[in-house]
Amino acid sequence: MIEAGQHLVLVGMTGVGKSTIARILGVRLGRDVYDTDSVIEGRAGRSVRRIFETDGEPAFRALESEVLADGLASPVPLVIATGGGMVVAEANRRLMRESGARVVWLCADPATLVERVGSAGHRPLLDDDPAGTLQRMMQDREAFYREVADAIVLVDHRSVSEVVEAVLR
Ligand code: S3P
Repeated sequence: MIEAGQHLVLVGMTGVGKSTIARILGVRLGRDVYDTDSVIEGRAGRSVRRIFETDGEPAFRALESEVLADGLASPVPLVIATGGGMVVAEANRRLMRESGARVVWLCADPATLVERVGSAGHRPLLDDDPAGTLQRMMQDREAFYREVADAIVLVDHRSVSEVVEAVLR
């Protein structure tokens, strides 16, 4: 259960549906949604893909950490949707824990993710061999998602509204 003053943070692999679920949770909870990828794009005035192409992944990761810290520092409780790689940096994981936010891991089988993601758009890391990349990313990141999660919600074979209800439980 989410407490009144607590941020609700969604973590999980790319393509799991964090942004969609966050939008609905925002309406349900009457909160603003803070989608880290969108905030990064707004601040940089460029797309995530463009930032990767022109400045490289480390520059993107630096912006991502900054944006997370700002979201968690908001005095108004938010629904925060994070990019799939947010948990990789130990500083980001520590910030999430220390902020007292409720962190929910939306978890899916890589096979489900392959069906959902396209390689275009804001996911340049999936341009080559999306299935293999997702498999590897899941292996690399699973322990990090588990480390920060207060709750784990499985999304395979569940509708969007079922996932929303499970997050709110
Ligand atoms: C990334 C996931 C993307 C985006 C960027 C990197 C990742 O966000 O932040 O392309 O490392 O998994 P989504 O999780 O919304 O796809």
